[in-house]
Amino acid sequence: MKLTESTSAPLIELCRSLRPDFQWGSASSAAQIEGAAALDGKGPSIWDRFCAEPGRINDASNIDVACDHYHRVDSDVALMQWLGLDAYRFSISWPRVQPLGEGAWNEAGFAFYDRLLDALLKAGIAPHATLYHWDLPAALHDSMGGWTSRDIVPRFADYAHEVARRFGSRLASIATLNEPWCVATLGYETAQFAPGLTSRATAAQVSHHLMMAHGAAVLAVRSACKTRLGVVLNHTPAFAAEALEADRRAARIDDGLNVRWYMDPIFRGSYPADILDYLGADAPQVSAEDLALIHQPLDFLGVNFYTRSFISTQQPPMAAPGKQGFTDMGWEIYPEALTQHLVRISREYSPPPIYITENGMANADKLVDGRVADVERIQYVNEHLKALARAVALGVDARGYFYWSLLDNFEWNSGYTKRFGLFHVDYATQERVAKDSALWYRDFITAFKSRRTLKAS
Ligand code: FCB
Repeated sequence: MKLTESTSAPLIELCRSLRPDFQWGSASSAAQIEGAAALDGKGPSIWDRFCAEPGRINDASNIDVACDHYHRVDSDVALMQWLGLDAYRFSISWPRVQPLGEGAWNEAGFAFYDRLLDALLKAGIAPHATLYHWDLPAALHDSMGGWTSRDIVPRFADYAHEVARRFGSRLASIATLNEPWCVATLGYETAQFAPGLTSRATAAQVSHHLMMAHGAAVLAVRSACKTRLGVVLNHTPAFAAEALEADRRAARIDDGLNVRWYMDPIFRGSYPADILDYLGADAPQVSAEDLALIHQPLDFLGVNFYTRSFISTQQPPMAAPGKQGFTDMGWEIYPEALTQHLVRISREYSPPPIYITENGMANADKLVDGRVADVERIQYVNEHLKALARAVALGVDARGYFYWSLLDNFEWNSGYTKRFGLFHVDYATQERVAKDSALWYRDFITAFKSRRTLKAS
């Protein structure tokens, strides 16, 4: 599909609001693509463990091989280059570079990321690393209860320092954490994610330790390199289903738990009072020193945006209207929330420059005669980029967009049943096939860049 034939002409027009150096990228994470789960000295992570527990992963799969990216770095970077990406966001597997989460470093693990960085830089693609995308060394879970213990904070800072010392000068940015809300809530309260616990009080304490680890990592990285530093949060703006006081109040709590609980300590140095009240006896133990540690200046804020939440207190609850459809995850497609939300957080928090570090959709893709005609994904990205460009026109300082994800991959507790990639992956052969959305994204980036060249001449 060519840009001229598609819905994209208005998009290119709207993208005039973006800076000429706006970064077009794609994102991934270690546990979801690397495979090589026990190779070259890598230690087990809590996700390796979780996959081995019966009933945890919908298709009973594991991440032993995943997309075998560990052995396919060069060809996968070639796919990124073919797309014309400016930037690539990936994560470093903590247990690959420090198998026990403390003590000895694993040189073979660092060598893998060294190869990845070399390949990216050679291809002219800016590397953006995330330090923690959920694959905690299992040994730290065993020895201290992982994120439930404050003792993890200095461990994470040591790891952050070592990565920054070795790679800082070659990285375009470092993000401390990916989506602490998911780590705490889905991992320790609802048991959908590793390590699969079910305590609200524990989850709240975990969220505070994550915030402290973020602050300690910021200090550690700053002492080792000058790389731009930030954090990645998942924001799912809450909408009241009806104009009812109860729905509004419930939406405000949902927003508090998902957005303000993390934005407030990072950018204001305090937790939101209404959520502390709401948690009551389950609220975490927090000291003034903890808050000072969390509240560090950052160079960027990463926002992962997929959908909104639709909050109804009625019985039975009112369902989200889904006028623009739902993705294969069952997530409502509601791009206008992206504009509203970016404008709102920019006004309320005056954050540093924003990157959309994840946005994308799972789709019931079909590979037919070597082609995946994923018009739904093209439409989804098109509408979200328009929403993003509108936010920028309204004054939001956004500097980049990373499509989630480069490849179909292991979608956590959904296993391999959900496909988010620009490239279709045949897991039996590891063959990658560019979907129509990949061709579309490539054409779009080319069109944006030709405008960039025109402006420069
Ligand atoms: C985000 C995660 C990412 C991926 C997408 C679909 O919450 O950061 O790893 O699973 O959702």
